[in-house]
Amino acid sequence: MMEEAFDVVVVGSCMTDLVSQTPRLPKAGETIHGHKFFIGFGGKGANQCIQAARLGVKTTMICKVGKDFFGDAYIQNFKDNNVSTDFVWQTSDAATGAASITVNDAGENAIVIVAGANMLLGGDELQKALPAIRKAKVLVCQLEINPQTSLQALQMARDNKVKTVFNPAPAIPDLDYNFYKVSDVFCCNESEAELLTGFSVNNVEGAHRASQELLSRGCGAVILTLGPQGCVVLKAQEKTSTHVPSTAVAAVDTTGAGDSFIGALAFYLAVHPTMTLEEMAGRANQVASVSVQTSGTQTSFPFRQDLPAKLF
Ligand SMILES: Nc1ncnc2c1ncn2[C@@H]1O[C@H](COP(=O)(O)OP(=O)(O)OP(=O)(O)O)[C@@H](O)[C@H]1O
Ligand SMILES: *[C@@H]1O[C@H](CO)[C@@H](O)[C@H](O)[C@H]1NC(C)=O
Ligand SMILES: *[C@@H]1O[C@H](CO)[C@@H](O)[C@H](O)[C@H]1NC(C)=O
Repeated sequence: MMEEAFDVVVVGSCMTDLVSQTPRLPKAGETIHGHKFFIGFGGKGANQCIQAARLGVKTTMICKVGKDFFGDAYIQNFKDNNVSTDFVWQTSDAATGAASITVNDAGENAIVIVAGANMLLGGDELQKALPAIRKAKVLVCQLEINPQTSLQALQMARDNKVKTVFNPAPAIPDLDYNFYKVSDVFCCNESEAELLTGFSVNNVEGAHRASQELLSRGCGAVILTLGPQGCVVLKAQEKTSTHVPSTAVAAVDTTGAGDSFIGALAFYLAVHPTMTLEEMAGRANQVASVSVQTSGTQTSFPFRQDLPAKLF
């Protein structure tokens, strides 16, 4: 039988966000009443995969959820978004990843994340998904699963000449240098770049310096996102990075903007492999800028039909 080929493969996390809005954050031992509760689909891996799918490429997610209510709901969410679930595993050994989030009226939050089943994705599952990884155009990883699993997935992609995008989020200090060596595009935000390099990155100048440092560690290119300022792009063999500005918009909710950007970047790498990285970054800025103009994470990610035709 002919194996199905996917353009974008994401190896990463699924999280259920349980969000309570309250007048203030509770103290230890205290019970307070909130005024709103909602459940949202999140996890950086799933977010990025769903954004790529909404732009119109064939995607599959390689991940693990619990054999529980939230795991079942997450699988349905992938189906609703045209993401293949061939490599979504369910385990009875841990619960689906969850983030309990309390947000007060001042916008401050207190968050408990239990990665759960995400941490049980390992080499066995990657081996089972190898036929899909081999045929992919682009493989994307982050750090919300076991870092060794991410590194192994990136290495498998590299061995099969599949383009790799690595988003070192959430950042860990002393990141293994092998992550840089297996990344065609290393894409992070300001705080992650600061943690990884020790440089302060609060303007375009700082981003130039940090991207040079990250590139020197062995990746093919660096993209450092800068919120309303867009991003800087630095490719191997280049001395200075290029600032690719975004048209700043009034942000309603920036949650997931970075994931929208990376999902869009994976889309362009898969569909327009010969386009310059600066052009892809400029278009990804435009996709992500739409995502900040409505609330929610995946709920704010645009579909192809919501975007100008010139982006495709
Ligand atoms: N106010 C804004 N106006 C226009 N574009 C924006 C704005 N905020 C974010 N973006 C777009 O989103 C991209 C990613 O934003 P940012 O650098 O804040 O990522 P992040 O910090 O990972 O996001 P998150 O809020 O999800 O943690 C930017 O490169 C830019 O393209
Ligand atoms: C999923 O794909 C089908 C067939 O290609 C299409 O009709 C549908 O609009 C897509 N749905 C989403 C949510 O993208
Ligand atoms: C960068 O992304 C992390 C999530 O990985 C987030 O916690 C942090 O606030 C972001 N930093 C900026 C400057 O947006």
